[in-house]
Amino acid sequence: MAAALELDRVSKTYGAMRAVDDVSLSIGAGERVALIGASGSGKSTLIRIASGLALADKTSGKVASFGVGVQEGGRLSREVRRARRHIGLVFQQFALVGRLSVMTNVLVGALGRVGALRGTLGLWNDDERRTALAALAEVGIQAHAGKKARELSGGQQQRVAIARALVQGAKLVLADEPIASLDPKSAKRVMDTLVTMSRDHGIALVVSLHQVDYATAYFDRVVAMNAGRVVFDGPASRINAAFLTELYGASAEELILPSQFAVAADAAAREPAHVS
Ligand SMILES: Nc1ncnc2c1ncn2[C@@H]1O[C@H](COP(=O)(O)OP(=O)(O)OP(=O)(O)O)[C@@H](O)[C@H]1O
Ligand SMILES: [Mg+2]
Repeated sequence: MAAALELDRVSKTYGAMRAVDDVSLSIGAGERVALIGASGSGKSTLIRIASGLALADKTSGKVASFGVGVQEGGRLSREVRRARRHIGLVFQQFALVGRLSVMTNVLVGALGRVGALRGTLGLWNDDERRTALAALAEVGIQAHAGKKARELSGGQQQRVAIARALVQGAKLVLADEPIASLDPKSAKRVMDTLVTMSRDHGIALVVSLHQVDYATAYFDRVVAMNAGRVVFDGPASRINAAFLTELYGASAEELILPSQFAVAADAAAREPAHVS
């Protein structure tokens, strides 16, 4: 089976800045990958390129999802709309239409199939409503279906975005820092929902994260970026404070687990006593 996501020698230059620098990556159907990296390392740019929201440089190879082209050589593929249909997106900033109901926001995920006009007018049939309610039930917010999206908490809004990907029939979900704006409890709930969605439906999942502790808790495979390049692609079990410092130097502090910081701080505090 074709990979859920295939990136072949992808680069993206902004002026003199190489935001993404010659990245090749393959993610299997149903596979879950955490994308980590300090601020500015290129995570968002890579996700935007993978979904066709940003064009890579002309020198880049092909980006494809399940064998369907997204872009190649800095141009969108002819079949990009077909590729996008099975790519679900979840963003850091809750990308819902606040004045519309939760239900409508979820059903807009089906626009690719039902046509924009009907979607905008909110003319959903019973089948579509049932599908949307089932998806909302799956993410645990069916009780809020009739509320306006802006009345929901950040974590609930992220779960609506996940329900939307389900209704869309996504086979690959790309989530760019979906928990960055959430408190720890909501963050955990959103991560649980993403991983459960992926497991239950065999949906491939790529989640970019600042918080390395979430990456190692929820994922087997971690891709680490630094200055636009993939500097590590392997088992989450290899990721610890020492390894992050090796990869990122001083900017590792941004990524290291608070618990490991505490351990390091404890050790530092003990040091003088030990010496004297
Ligand atoms: N539209 C743009 N125009 C110019 N430079 C950009 C643009 N988008 C991103 N960049 C630059 O590309 C680099 C990578 O940015 P990107 O947003 O992909 O990083 P990131 O890993 O997502 O960072 P963060 O963790 O802060 O979200 C940064 O140096 C950024 O300033
Ligand atoms: Mg980003």
